[in-house]
Amino acid sequence: MANNAGRVAIVSGGSGGIGKASAVRLAADGFSVVVHYANGKDRAEETASAVARAGGRAIVAGGDVADEAAMAAVFDAADREFGGVDVVVHTAGIMPLAPVAQMSLDTFDRVQRTNVRGTFVIDQLAAQRVRNGGAIINFSTSVTRLQIPSYGAYAASKGAVEALTLILARELRGRDITVNAIAPGPTATPLFFEGKTQQAIEQISGMNPMGRLGTAEDIAETVAFLAGPARWVNGQVLYVNGGAA
Ligand SMILES: NC(=O)c1ccc[n+]([C@@H]2O[C@H](COP(=O)([O-])OP(=O)(O)OC[C@H]3O[C@@H](n4cnc5c(N)ncnc54)[C@H](OP(=O)(O)O)[C@@H]3O)[C@@H](O)[C@H]2O)c1
Repeated sequence: MANNAGRVAIVSGGSGGIGKASAVRLAADGFSVVVHYANGKDRAEETASAVARAGGRAIVAGGDVADEAAMAAVFDAADREFGGVDVVVHTAGIMPLAPVAQMSLDTFDRVQRTNVRGTFVIDQLAAQRVRNGGAIINFSTSVTRLQIPSYGAYAASKGAVEALTLILARELRGRDITVNAIAPGPTATPLFFEGKTQQAIEQISGMNPMGRLGTAEDIAETVAFLAGPARWVNGQVLYVNGGAA
């Protein structure tokens, strides 16, 4: 176990694929974990049970990531239960797909509210409350480099996440807090599989030289690196995609 005893992580979207793997991996590395969810309380509780099996401590806390009061309550829960916050892993996000010509503006607004406002809310709280020596890890996507049709609204939201990440890293000068974004390639989680045919899945799996989809555990490996030993990686977007882009 890495030497993270006494350190505390909040994982937003801990009820989802990458969030669950990140929570379990951080617990195995010694972190206590707040597992956040929106609608998937049962899945968050499964994540908390998996953390316990990995030898860690976890609580669950819910709420819309774009709701600042609900997210402040998640940070409060970390303070109350574990005494503070060292690392924020912000995986919560959505990916409705449609060509620009066809996407409804209601859907566009929902994507921006969850992915952009949600990241701003989480990062604002993290900037105020993460202890010195900590890490803030946002989530972008390799699609910002790949220009795939139908990803317009989503890629636009993640472009905003990247910009926010790079600026927040510079704003936290003097705090010894790293701020980075992970930009995964296609990763085998519900967000990726939703609405895709088997043929599309096979075609996308072949886009990288490894010839397979990423797993949530592949991504959690980079989360653990940024949350723990990677103190000299700061203000960067890390493309974690098996070489796809
Ligand atoms: N999977 C991929 O191929 C891939 C590729 C590139 C980037 N990413 C990025 O990686 C991150 C994690 O994705 P994933 O694949 O793990 O997705 P996932 O399995 O679908 O999980 C998404 C998580 O986001 C939460 N969430 C959604 N809307 C929310 C809201 N309004 N408020 C709070 N939480 C909300 C969900 O909570 P509930 O389930 O509890 O409602 C769930 O925990 C996302 O930011 C995604 O854009 C994923």
